[in-house]
Amino acid sequence: TTTHLIDTFGRHHNYLRISLTERCNLRCTYCMPEEGVPLTSHDKLLTTDEILSLAQLFVSQGVTKIRLTGGEPTVRPDLIDIISGLNELKNNGLQSIGITTNGIALKRKLPALYKAGLDSLNISLDTLDKHMFEIMTRRKGFDNVLTSIQQATDLGFKSVKINSVVMRGINDDQVLNFVAFTQKNPVNVRFIEYMPFDGNRWNKDKLVPYQELLERIETRFGSMQKLVDDPNDTTKAYKVPGYQGRIGFITSMTNHFCGTCNRLRITADGSIKVCLFGSTEVSLRDMMRQGYSQEELLYYIGAAVRKKKKHHAGMAELASRKNRPMILIGG
Ligand code: GTP
Ligand code: 5AD
Ligand code: SF4
Repeated sequence: TTTHLIDTFGRHHNYLRISLTERCNLRCTYCMPEEGVPLTSHDKLLTTDEILSLAQLFVSQGVTKIRLTGGEPTVRPDLIDIISGLNELKNNGLQSIGITTNGIALKRKLPALYKAGLDSLNISLDTLDKHMFEIMTRRKGFDNVLTSIQQATDLGFKSVKINSVVMRGINDDQVLNFVAFTQKNPVNVRFIEYMPFDGNRWNKDKLVPYQELLERIETRFGSMQKLVDDPNDTTKAYKVPGYQGRIGFITSMTNHFCGTCNRLRITADGSIKVCLFGSTEVSLRDMMRQGYSQEELLYYIGAAVRKKKKHHAGMAELASRKNRPMILIGG
C-alpha cells in the first residue's frame, strides 16, 4: 500500500465523502442562511466522469468507503450513474457506498438506488413533529421523509440511519420521541451536536451536550446498553434493551473524535478538504482539467493530507473562524 492518504499523525484515510451538489430542496436553519448561498456556476462543478475518476484514484490508494453528500445528492440528475460507476469500483477494493440525504425526493428513487449498488442510507430528520419540521427546514415535506425511512427499512438496506441535529429550545424535546421511535423501527437514530458554520447563527447556548441528552434519556427509559463502536465511527452507540433500533451520539463539539478520523472530503466544486473545520483546500478539478497525471494528482493530495491538523480548534475558536457553510461542505 502507498502512503499518500496517511497523515503526519498516522491516521489512514479510507473514507471519502464526495459532495455532489450545492443545491438543496430544503433550507435547514443549522445548515444555511434563509436566502441560500451563492452557487458555483455549473461548469465549475465536477462532472460524472470527473467524480468517478477521482473516486477510482482514491480507491486505488486504499479508500474502502465512499459517501455521497451535498447539498442534497438526490437533486443531481446523474445520481444513479454515479452510484453504478462507484459500484464497479467494488472490484478494486471499495466496500461500501453510502448517501446522506434529507429523504424528501427519495421515495421514487430508492429501488433504483438500491439496485445500482447503494449500501447504506443516512436520512436527516430533526423532529417527529410536522409543524416543527417546517420551521426547522423552512419547507414542507415531512411526510415524504417518514415514508422514505419506512421504505428504506423495508427494502433491506444494510443500514438505515436517522441524523438529528439537536438545538436547545427548538427540537431538544424531540429526543425522547426519537428514542421511543426505535422501539418498533430497526433504525439507528443519531443525535448530533450542533456545530458552527458560516451563516448558521450558532451559539453555545443552543448546543445540547450529549451527556445532558444521555441523562435525560436514561431518566425516562432507564439504563441504556452501551454498544461497541467501530474504530473510526463518528458515533457513540447505545440502545434501549429490547428495542429494535438503536441510538447514538455524534459528539463533535464536547468530545471530538479527531484522533480516529479517517475521513477526507471532496466538495462539489472539486476541492479536497482534509478536515470539516480545516482551511486546507486544494482544487483537484483545476489539476484534472489542466491534464495533470494520476501521479501528480496523488502528490498534491498527499501534500494536502499531510497538512491535516491533529484535531479541530475547539468550539469557541471554530465559532469565530471562517469556514464554508455546511451546505457547501456536505457534513
Ligand atoms: P456513517 O458512515 O454512517 O457512520 O455516517 P457518518 O457519521 O460518517 O456521516 P453522516 O453524513 O451521516 O454525518 C453525520 C454527522 O456527523 C454530520 O453532522 C457530520 O457533519 C458529522 N460528521 C461526519 N464526519 C465527521 C467528521 O469527520 N468530523 C466531524 N466533526 N463531524 C463529522
Ligand atoms: N451541525 C451538526 N450537523 C449538521 N448537519 C448539517 N449542519 C449541521 C450543523 N450545523 C448534518 C445534517 C446532515 C449531515 C450531513 O450533517 O443533519 O445529516
Ligand atoms: Fe476529522 Fe476534522 Fe472531523 Fe476532527 S473535525 S473528526 S479531524 S474531519
